Amino acid sequence: MSITIKTPEEIAAMRIAGRLASEVLDHVTPFVQPGVTTEELDRICHEYITQVQGGIPAPLNYAPPGYTPYPKSICTSVNHVVCHGIPGNKVLKRGDIANLDITVIKDGFHGDTSRMFIVGGEAAGSILARRLCTITYECMWLGIAQVRPGARLGDIGHAIQRHAEAAGFSVVQEFCGHGIGRGFHEEPQVVHYGRPGTGVELKAGMIFTIEPMINAGKRHISELPDGWTIVTKDRSLSAQWEHTCLVTETGVEPLTISAGSPAIPAIVADRFAA
Ligand code: MF3
Ligand code: CO
Ligand code: CO
Repeated sequence: MSITIKTPEEIAAMRIAGRLASEVLDHVTPFVQPGVTTEELDRICHEYITQVQGGIPAPLNYAPPGYTPYPKSICTSVNHVVCHGIPGNKVLKRGDIANLDITVIKDGFHGDTSRMFIVGGEAAGSILARRLCTITYECMWLGIAQVRPGARLGDIGHAIQRHAEAAGFSVVQEFCGHGIGRGFHEEPQVVHYGRPGTGVELKAGMIFTIEPMINAGKRHISELPDGWTIVTKDRSLSAQWEHTCLVTETGVEPLTISAGSPAIPAIVADRFAA
């Protein structure tokens, strides 16, 4: 398979799937509190997707080559967990940082998005935790701000890597953004590091995710024996944000936006004036 250009009908369906995925995050947000378990958050999201949205949680039983089927409906990655944390009996406590990653299938199309939460509210987080979450959010948006026809994937990766490393953080290299549509993970791979002017040239109608994983310490990772959970090798904190993005004729349209989406950061205000 190669990189597909979505038709207007496919784009319309992707707008719906993207908004639904973001609305799951809006719905679960008030439940992300000290004392909740990650499997309670999974159940809340699963019920909302299946019973309110009429959708399918894409992670449930997802089994790419070499993986055992993923056992839950969302990913919950807390503190030093980089990605693919499996919901379970883990209790969230004040000051934890948690990524909730939601992928909804609606009418055959995928919407994929994640946000960071500081458990107990912004003020509960350590200075480092807050800074890591904010810088990672800016990294995602700096990547999104590169997207337009004629730009290249390396422009996205470079913008992200430069901002993360200037803050003293590191970029995870083993996991990346991805094309998305009828498939959960399509071509191309969207790595979050690189050199400007290199890599695949973007064309209107491409849809892919940008989902940088940024570590407070070194970039290296380890996989836990469950076959899914990825942690920082040095057990430093890790953060991630994700949007699904459409390349338009003139620039970019993030598809995973809803009423509860956090504001676009000031660092890209020049590109996304209200
Ligand atoms: N949502 C993740 C991504 O952004 C993939 C999760 S795969 C799962 O690509 F099986 F762990 F859910
Ligand atoms: Co993704
Ligand atoms: Co995701």
